[in-house]
Amino acid sequence: MKILIIDDEKNIGVAIMGIVNDEGNLSKHALTFGEGMEMLKEETFDIVFLDIWLPDIDGMEGLKEIKRYYPEIDVVMISGHGTIENAVESIKYGAYDFLEKPLSLERIVMILKHLKDRSKLLKDLRNSKYNLIKKYNLIGVSQSVNRLKDKIDKISNMNSAVLITGENGAGKEHVSKLIHMLGMYSDQPFIEINCSAVPSELLESELFGYEQGAFTDAITSKKGLFELANGGTLFLDEICDMDLSTQVKLLKVLEMGEFVTIGGTEVVKSNFRLICATNKDISAEITSNNFRADLFYRINVIPIEVPPLRERREDIPYLVNYFLKSSASLNSLLEKRLSNELMEQFMSYDFPGNVRQLKNIVERLVALSDKEVIGVEDTPTIFIKDQELGLVDISYKYGATLKSARDEFERDYFLNVLRVNDWNIIKSAAVLDIERTYLYKKIKSLGLEKTKNS
Ligand SMILES: Nc1ncnc2c1ncn2[C@@H]1O[C@H](COP(=O)(O)OP(=O)(O)OP(=O)(O)O)[C@@H](O)[C@H]1O
Ligand SMILES: [Mg+2]
Repeated sequence: MKILIIDDEKNIGVAIMGIVNDEGNLSKHALTFGEGMEMLKEETFDIVFLDIWLPDIDGMEGLKEIKRYYPEIDVVMISGHGTIENAVESIKYGAYDFLEKPLSLERIVMILKHLKDRSKLLKDLRNSKYNLIKKYNLIGVSQSVNRLKDKIDKISNMNSAVLITGENGAGKEHVSKLIHMLGMYSDQPFIEINCSAVPSELLESELFGYEQGAFTDAITSKKGLFELANGGTLFLDEICDMDLSTQVKLLKVLEMGEFVTIGGTEVVKSNFRLICATNKDISAEITSNNFRADLFYRINVIPIEVPPLRERREDIPYLVNYFLKSSASLNSLLEKRLSNELMEQFMSYDFPGNVRQLKNIVERLVALSDKEVIGVEDTPTIFIKDQELGLVDISYKYGATLKSARDEFERDYFLNVLRVNDWNIIKSAAVLDIERTYLYKKIKSLGLEKTKNS
């Protein structure tokens, strides 16, 4: 184990170092709190022995500071005055144990032994948990998914803020849960809120909580998510949709580690790990003044990018099989598989909706097909080969009048159906469920033409 001793008395440091090194540990000594914090920044330590009286900070404040930034480090307080109050108070703020001066060799050895047993236990737990999760949960074999797994493993036990970016349905929320599950505080709450799903006033009252009577609807008091997440993880999804005034308030909470509930007077302290996610280009949001740069720096300590599925096609069969299995067992259905030809089509499809889209398609196939092997003929046509067919992307264009949007949609849709059916009027009319003559009329009135690439 690696141990840091922060004590302004040189001989105390030397004495503890002697004892812990004899037990086969590595140790370092800092004479001031500031010096100690610098060392913590540069190296990882398992244990800190912290003097309650230091020249540059009150040890109790020092303890809180260490716990805030490095909650995984065990802190043992060294109390010169031996008051039981000090010791009890330090335990309340997260110290593992305390030592009284003059130091007792036996007590130090005993504390080290306890800590070692505990850390081994935690490590074993983490390893078995990791293997489990690795095996079953983040599906994928691509280099980018493997890199993602490594990164998640590396950072899950840190307390730094994480910002997850990626397209719709790529797996941002999935990754955020994994980070929480793999962390040491996985038994603590995982609290999530989607910032785009709630109006801004409601978002604030959800985050901060409120006292009874704080506003008209506040019939009873309610704890805020900041408080509920204490000790665990707070996941703020779609963070770019948080309005600017809430952003300022969030920044303050992150800086202070405390806040006041709406309508309340008491300061509530909360220590949580923050994970945010967005599918927007956050730097563009900063440039257009929709997102505060200072908040961005605070939440983007560890950036994680979840790549779109089309950039890791080798994951597709694994995801397909995973969802085939899980949806079959969920619905107590017979396990099905895809024909090779259909799997190839899955692999060449671009999946604009990423893993979520793939999951939905697979679930639909499982539910709708009676066959054990699902083939190409069971898939919705639109999915099959739209790049090859040069299909038009039918997305509604916001801001257009209803008439022009409808015209545009009609044009695109007719064109797509015609292209899929190779301009065969009979087939196309059947798909559209309209008369052939009406289709001819539409082709004429919409000015549709068979071009080279259609
Ligand atoms: N690598 C993966 N392995 C297994 N399941 C996954 C994986 N990636 C995503 N999923 C699943 O796909 C679905 C969509 O993922 P998720 O909700 O995390 O996406 P998202 O990026 O948060 O999407 P949005 O931007 O729409 O909020 C979820 O059901 C999730 O569990
Ligand atoms: Mg999401």
